[in-house]
Amino acid sequence: MSRFVGALDQGTTSTRFIIFDRQGQIVAVAQKEHQQIYPKPGWVEHDPLEIWRNTREVMAEALIKADIRPADLKAVGITNQRETTVLWDRRTGQPLHNALVWQDTRVDQMVAGFTREGGQDRFRAKTGLPLASYFSGLKLRWLLQNVEGAREKAAAGDALFGNIDTWILWNMTGGRNGGLHVTDVTNASRTQLMDLATLDWDKGMLDTFDIPRACLPQIRSSSEVYGQAHGELEGVPVAGILGDQQAALVGQTCFAPGEAKNTYGTGCFLLMNTGEKLVPSTCGLVTTVGYKFGDQPVRYALEGSIAITGALVQWLRDNLGLIHSSGEIESLAASVEDNGDVYFVPAFSGLYAPYWKESARGVVAGLTRFAGRGHLARAALEATAYQTRDVLDAMEKDSGIAIRELRSDGGMVVNELLMQFQADILDVPVVRPKVTETTALGAAYAAGLATGYWQGEDDLKRNWGVDKTWAPAMDEGRRGRLYASWQKAVRRSFDWID
Ligand code: G3P
Repeated sequence: MSRFVGALDQGTTSTRFIIFDRQGQIVAVAQKEHQQIYPKPGWVEHDPLEIWRNTREVMAEALIKADIRPADLKAVGITNQRETTVLWDRRTGQPLHNALVWQDTRVDQMVAGFTREGGQDRFRAKTGLPLASYFSGLKLRWLLQNVEGAREKAAAGDALFGNIDTWILWNMTGGRNGGLHVTDVTNASRTQLMDLATLDWDKGMLDTFDIPRACLPQIRSSSEVYGQAHGELEGVPVAGILGDQQAALVGQTCFAPGEAKNTYGTGCFLLMNTGEKLVPSTCGLVTTVGYKFGDQPVRYALEGSIAITGALVQWLRDNLGLIHSSGEIESLAASVEDNGDVYFVPAFSGLYAPYWKESARGVVAGLTRFAGRGHLARAALEATAYQTRDVLDAMEKDSGIAIRELRSDGGMVVNELLMQFQADILDVPVVRPKVTETTALGAAYAAGLATGYWQGEDDLKRNWGVDKTWAPAMDEGRRGRLYASWQKAVRRSFDWID
């Protein structure tokens, strides 16, 4: 009998394979980072072949660590950095170009052009998304326009488009020898090419962006057996696909409308389950697919996407050398009493929710001769909490639901200073669950539900437990003053690029 379920988590900075047991506990993890390629300011690429190599390595390594064979896995689920766009040759398996990463802003002129014609929200009703460089439809358009021969190949069905989930699945299920060209509803909802109501590619969007349907994957549910793995996981059913933020929603068992989670990773992504209801946003959030388990009805979500949070800590480490390891940020920030009136708006890829300003760029505001390294570190951490406040306020307005506690997960939740400041600036308790690897867990849940490893949502809810809660402890006046200064700094970041 298969004892475990596996999850492949292909994220922005690394690829992990995690093996879970029935209680949702981690049995083994293997992880590998990949290169970030920055050809020009605002451009961010990944090498899809490196990502696939790393995927194979971490799968093999995790099996060895757990001392199990593929047959010990009941199923495997895939979760992924969303929107990152790959176009590859069906016959050779070679990418036609590096992947354009979700943070990449090279399509900003296209965004401006389409916005001039009909406004930034012209596709919201159909796709749930504003016009922005973030989503994959325009990235694919860029590849078709700029890579020689790409358009012809795509139109003939010889070049295949996918977000990273599709790229991994195709390779995992045989690649050139019959690999499956499939995505799930959550990933498809991030392309701006899918109709949110019908869950199918939208002809109007394809015509507007000039995308040939022949290069697009088939859209399926998030939890069903798509096929069998080849290679390292030979014979294991691949039975779950979820974009990583939706996977965290599932991993946190936010199955009831109104339940929300915030994942603190490269960026921050606050998602609220809105049930079977499509809730349009008027406050700068996006409407997206939460998940769809097999034949059950689709569940929608409202999302506040923030591009840069943890990535700012990495930037302080890698580009400024302010710290040697990401973990050091906490002690450096704690070496000062407060932010010394310094605010850091990390608009490195413009600003996403709730502002959607392509033309914003990063600013540090409020500097005086008094400010030191500690204040900069503190301002960087606090930026994560302020940005989360921006999207939480929008979420409450859009949904009409007051968030009573915020379930948190992701790499930054080990940072006690940040978690306390987050509770303080939101005036809402912040909760960290026992298993914080909720992204991989969500993908494992999707795969395990499809194959009968878990019976249903109640089974999964039993696995969720609180590790720690941070209660708000800041007085109203101080909270108001700090947040007002943050909002002033945000406005300073606008309209940097013409
Ligand atoms: O939308 C982008 C998001 O999916 C990236 O997540 O965790 O890889 O930074 P992460």
